[in-house]
This record gives sequence, C-alpha cells and structure tokens, in this order.
Amino acid sequence: MVVSFDQPTQTWMFIALHDMTLGPAMGGCRMMVYETPEEGLRDAMRLAEGMTYKWATIGFDLGGGKSVLAVPQPVAGDEREGLFERFGALVDSLRGAYACGPDLGTTPHDMSVIGRSTEYVHGVDRSGGEPVDPGPYTALGVFCGIRAALRHVHGDDSLGGRSVLIQGAGDVGYPLGKFVADAGGKVLVSDVDGTKAATLANKTGGTVIPLDASYATHCDVYAPCAVGATLNAETIPQLQCRIVAGSANNQLAHEADADRLHERGILYAPDYVINAGGATALPLLDSGRSTPDEVRERIRRFDKILSAIFNDSAANGVSPLLGAKRAAEKVLEGGKPLR
Ligand code: PHE
Repeated sequence: MVVSFDQPTQTWMFIALHDMTLGPAMGGCRMMVYETPEEGLRDAMRLAEGMTYKWATIGFDLGGGKSVLAVPQPVAGDEREGLFERFGALVDSLRGAYACGPDLGTTPHDMSVIGRSTEYVHGVDRSGGEPVDPGPYTALGVFCGIRAALRHVHGDDSLGGRSVLIQGAGDVGYPLGKFVADAGGKVLVSDVDGTKAATLANKTGGTVIPLDASYATHCDVYAPCAVGATLNAETIPQLQCRIVAGSANNQLAHEADADRLHERGILYAPDYVINAGGATALPLLDSGRSTPDEVRERIRRFDKILSAIFNDSAANGVSPLLGAKRAAEKVLEGGKPLR
C-alpha cells in the first residue's frame, strides 16, 4: 500500500499493489466519498486483487493494482486539477511499478491532468487528440458475456424477447443499453441519478425501474454497472433473474455470495472477466499496438473465455467465480490463459 494525504483537498490517496508476478501493476483510479478513509483503503485493496485476476484471465503480462482517492466531498474545477496533478506525482514516484487509468468517479480528462505529472497513465491521447474512453469497450465485453451466459442457460444467445436490467446508466451502462436494444433486447434501467436512467430509457425504448425495486424486478439478466457489493445476503434472495452479468467491479459483497447465487440457480459471470474490455483496450490502444477494430475483435473472444468458465465450473460442480479463480491462479503459476 502506498498511502498519502493531500492537504489542500483533505483527500486520502491510496495505491494498492496486489500481485506483480506477471508484470508491473496497472489498474484504474477511483474517486469516491467514503464513510471513512479505511473503507477507501479496503476498496483499493479488493479492487487491486480483482485486477490481478483480470490480467491473468485475459492474458496480459501485468500485475494487479488500483488506486483510490477518498475525497471528503466531490471536487471540481481548479481544486480537482490540482488534486490529480499531485496524485500524478505520487504515481510517478513509483517509477512504473503502477500505472493508472480511469475508473468509477474519474474521467478521461482527469487522466490527461494526471498525464502532466507522469507518463504512467492510460486513457490519454498523447498525440493531442481525444483521450481513449474505456467505457464502450467495457460495454462490448459485457454484452458478449451476456450472450455467452444466455447460451449457457437457454441454449440460445439471442436477445430477442429477453430483458436486461441495467443498474447504473453511466459510462458503461449507457453503451451497454444501446447494444442490448440494437440486438432486440428489452432495456430496464435504474440509476441513483433519475435523469441518467430516463435518458437511457428514452434512447432505447426501455423502462425506468425505481432504485429500491431493481433487485426484485423480473428480468432475464441483471447487469450491475455501478458500485460494487450490490450482491449480498440481503439482495440475492430477492433476485428474479437467471443470470447476473454486469460491469461493476467487486459485485459480490463476499466470496460466499457466489455460492448463494449458485444455490439459487442464478448464473454469475465473474466480474473481473466480463468487465475486462476496458482493461483490454487501454494498454493496446495507448501503446498503438492495436487498432480499435483489433481490440474489439479481441474483446469478442470474452464470449469463448466465459463459455469455457461456465462449462468447466458446471462440470466440476463449483460456482463460476471459483472456476474463474482457479483458471487465473493457473496462469499466475505459469500456465496458459484461457484464450
Ligand atoms: N477501471 C477499469 C477496470 O477496472 C479500466 C482500467 C483498466 C483502467 C486497466 C486502468 C487500467 O478495468
């Protein structure tokens, strides 16, 4: 853990490095108001662990890391720029052990500001153009994962006549809703920000679901696309779906919640696999190693990766989370990734 306190904004800055067996750590920078700084620290540690498994599963030689800016209240304008410049200097002091990128609460523009202080940042276009936004790439991966899950459960991956409840119509939820609607699926959407939910519903001919009703609403797929830990002992018994497949990191409050879902016959697409589209896009596009089309082609393979995880875990009678973890651990021990 790298811990620093930013006096001007009273922000705790946490950088968690989980496992660097495969390479230097890379992972997003989250900015959020937490009840206590400890919660921000814990979030950084759990998110960094997820990144270790994410990189291993999708076959990148990178380690698990994540940063959290635990702000006392939302920051904007000059104050925000100053904070990101100073955070960039903290990242730079690690000399490449950790590289950051956008995550919940941070934008591609914030990454450009970080880029004034360090080169170890992704989601910035150094040629002066638009910064790379990982959101639509993450959404594509989730969409491919939803198809794999539908095929596993129903033997048919068509979205026609299927409903997807998107919780969080933000940078990932919004483009995901469009993919679903374009494929003939029905979009149900809830968001803490009612305007965001209404915008996506209008765009897709979907329906807004009140936040407190979202867990108990009938749908084929429940797609958590915002904060983590929405799946827990209280919410899982309420679910009226066969599939949970969304982009949020750390969707499960505890590992045991994977078994809870499994026992209810609900197929869970492990978060760090299905949401790895952004992680696939950022290093490949920023380094110029791949074109956007090549990146999308690689993300479409998530369908196969997830199918393999679903099939293996079903054959072994374990939850997909455990199946995914075992596959990732094999890679960390020197084995080949699933792709
Ligand atoms: N924050 C996103 C994720 O967790 C995208 C990201 C990936 C950002 C890798 C930086 C590095 O996958």
